[in-house]
Amino acid sequence: MFPPAGSARASSAGAANDSQLLSGRGVGPAAERIDVPSTVVVGSQWGDEGKGRVVDLLSADADLVVRYQGGNNAGHTVWVGEERYAFHLIPTGILRGKLSMLGAGMVIDASVLLQEADELSSRGVPVHGNLRLSENAHLILPYHKVMEAAEEERRGAQAIGTTRRGIGPAYEDKVARRGIRVGDLRDADGLARKLDDVLAYKNTIIERVYELPALNRDEIYEDLRAKYARFKDWICDTSTLVLDALCSKKKVLFEGAHGTMLDIDWGTYPYVTSSNPLSGAVCAGAGVGPKWIDRIIGVAKAYTTRVGAGPFPTKQPEIAHIIRDLGGEYGTTTGRARDVGWLDCVVLRKSARLNGLDSLAITHLDVLGQFDEIPVCVAYRCDGHEISEFPNDLDTLSRCRPVYENLPGWKSDISGLQTSADLPEKAKRYLNRLSELVGAPVSHVLVGRRRGQDIIL
Ligand code: GDP
Ligand code: IMO
Ligand code: MG
Repeated sequence: MFPPAGSARASSAGAANDSQLLSGRGVGPAAERIDVPSTVVVGSQWGDEGKGRVVDLLSADADLVVRYQGGNNAGHTVWVGEERYAFHLIPTGILRGKLSMLGAGMVIDASVLLQEADELSSRGVPVHGNLRLSENAHLILPYHKVMEAAEEERRGAQAIGTTRRGIGPAYEDKVARRGIRVGDLRDADGLARKLDDVLAYKNTIIERVYELPALNRDEIYEDLRAKYARFKDWICDTSTLVLDALCSKKKVLFEGAHGTMLDIDWGTYPYVTSSNPLSGAVCAGAGVGPKWIDRIIGVAKAYTTRVGAGPFPTKQPEIAHIIRDLGGEYGTTTGRARDVGWLDCVVLRKSARLNGLDSLAITHLDVLGQFDEIPVCVAYRCDGHEISEFPNDLDTLSRCRPVYENLPGWKSDISGLQTSADLPEKAKRYLNRLSELVGAPVSHVLVGRRRGQDIIL
């Protein structure tokens, strides 16, 4: 029989008993080994699961941290003591002085890249010398942002609720084979020709379809040349560096952005982002073969959040005021208040399957310490039937209602705990039940927003 979800490795944990899971003996073979050369950290819900925190934790032990998709629609927050750091383009690993790469699957806004690098440098983070930027990554240009804003307005009530950072239009141009890549900046004349060509096309749409003023080619060109002069030393073929690192047994961490349910192919389309956050995208986005991936950790909140439009079956507006402040549930990129709901194990099962999760890193467990009872969605009821798989089409999904199981709350502050043995029994029970429902063991539990507030199982 096929395992219920997740990878064959992970599914064995579904049968593990409580003590096995929490002592770590239930952890899949790859997740058990701390010394694996490569690890992927992937968001398992709709983004903002706490990937930044998990990457910060794991990068202490990494040599190289690589982003493989997305752009500055991502916002990964790390608190070190009272200092807050927010990462949008630059991998979170830079905070620990690790070599940090922006892979070919990313889309790069040169202004944001330089701003972020300058801000981090001014705060003493060792950025220069530690950054590498793929020559194959595509550039986000001013017309992408103008067209995205116009397109969101045109959609009206059907707007996606994007971050308006030009991400979707930049990926559109990549796929249409009219994108301008980071490596194109090296050739001044070639860049001018490419920009002339693409801007003639873009300005026709901007003026005639959206009835907005045309963009000035010289301004865009001069700005790009000036920015290129500042980051040209970071540009290289990042794929060969990653392979060199793996061949010499260095530890490589692949930092996912967004979340599985925002995946362009497998998420709640069209309410998704324009790239593949899935672990499988590491290969194309970072330029490594699948055999080099050793371990895949899915990050999930102990509840669920979503920002932007689109379906959210377990959404609970009435608990948002309790959870939002404790969990920092305001967008790191846009500042928008996130919608909040109970944990959805139907979502997590899909995520475990699509990503081949070896284990789960559960964040924000501390935030649930307020509740007498904590509902967990175990299945959906749709057209009179109970279903355990997340539907791929939104029409079916709109007819689904969550089926909840109520688990007892632990009603205490767990944010200072250091070991799994210290966790209240009811918190352990919560973790074990979710692990069983998802079919993947829990390898990490995060109990606060600060570095150090974590428990490794
Ligand atoms: P990411 O995009 O997946 O890296 O997540 P974000 O940084 O956008 O959002 C996570 C938010 O929760 C941030 O405000 C973090 O500071 C905060 N956070 C992360 N982990 C925890 C945790 O275990 N407990 C609490 N209370 N806050 C957390
Ligand atoms: P991190 O990496 C949460 C959402 C947007 C919108 C949709 C499309 O911090 O988890 P886009 O600008 O990508 O075209 O917007 O995707 N979205 C995110 N939501 N966290 C993110 O990243 C997100 N990146 C995109 O809110 O609904
Ligand atoms: Mg975020």
